[in-house]
Amino acid sequence: MLLAEAMALLGPAPGRRYLDATLGLGGHSEALLAAGAVVVGIERDAEARAIAAARLAHAADRFTVVTGDFAATAEQFVARGETFDGVLVDLGVSSLQLDDHARGFSLRAETRLDLRMDTSTGETALDLIDRLDERELADVIYRYGEERLSRPIARKIKVARSAGQLETAAQLAEIVRWAVRGHQQRHPALRTFQALRIAVNDELGQLDRLLAVLPKLVAPGGTAALISFHSLEDRAVKQELRSQRLSGAWDDVARKPVVAGEAELSANPRASSAKLRWARAPQAGQAAVPRDANEANDDANDEANEKAET
Ligand SMILES: C[S@@+](CC[C@H](N)C(=O)[O-])C[C@H]1O[C@@H](n2cnc3c(N)ncnc32)[C@H](O)[C@@H]1O
Repeated sequence: MLLAEAMALLGPAPGRRYLDATLGLGGHSEALLAAGAVVVGIERDAEARAIAAARLAHAADRFTVVTGDFAATAEQFVARGETFDGVLVDLGVSSLQLDDHARGFSLRAETRLDLRMDTSTGETALDLIDRLDERELADVIYRYGEERLSRPIARKIKVARSAGQLETAAQLAEIVRWAVRGHQQRHPALRTFQALRIAVNDELGQLDRLLAVLPKLVAPGGTAALISFHSLEDRAVKQELRSQRLSGAWDDVARKPVVAGEAELSANPRASSAKLRWARAPQAGQAAVPRDANEANDDANDEANEKAET
């Protein structure tokens, strides 16, 4: 998603080295490799890793796959003093995961509700539902799903679970549909699935940790490009990049997100939620370019708009 826009910002070329923090099925890495760059891809989902490795086998001499999550991996790179000319982060789930019935990502799945990207570790969505009490579960659904009806949904989920009526994704989708009946939404269960997925995979915690080390991961003059799919991620990216810019970590950061153009939107309606933000590191041995009055004004306006929205 936003492939051409990301490549234009990252400027891959022979001899340049990139970190693709969310390898997925390897679409972005493929474009980086096609431009002659060296790529290190991180992926926590074993199935995606295997597909990407096979797809990019033709460039195996310039491509390395790292198994694991991007927060811990990025922290290790920074501890070793390793940097990249560009870092790409394409957050969220891949098309493979969205259609995945085995792990319950699909709302129609008749299999156990799992929702883990990395099935080798951590608790499943069912474990999470069992561990949290009704109020805590409602808080997760409210916070990560931005779901106004979190309380009745959490109540119905807990009741169904204790009655032995909740094992699969399809059952969860029905329970939520029942809990919010009468209220108009795209699909009543989408927000609840998003919330559980974010909690199970600690998606915002992972993003915060990666953002914290990002300036040290990008080589002088290099670029970070981050694509997010929902407002919680985009807000975290925007606020952290802006605060790092204020403390002199970046020469420049995106004032407005780059969004998908007409052609991509008509080919892929999901792209309408995608927002790309970027940050550019100062050149070697130079301090960051100071903020000018326009930039300070843009930031102040943006912050005022944000306050008005909340
Ligand atoms: C939107 S997809 C990336 C698609 C990819 N850019 C492509 O072109 O195919 C996001 C991928 O990142 C992976 N992912 C999400 N969070 C992760 C994390 N914290 N650490 C490692 N991989 C992660 C997911 O498993 C998923 O495969």
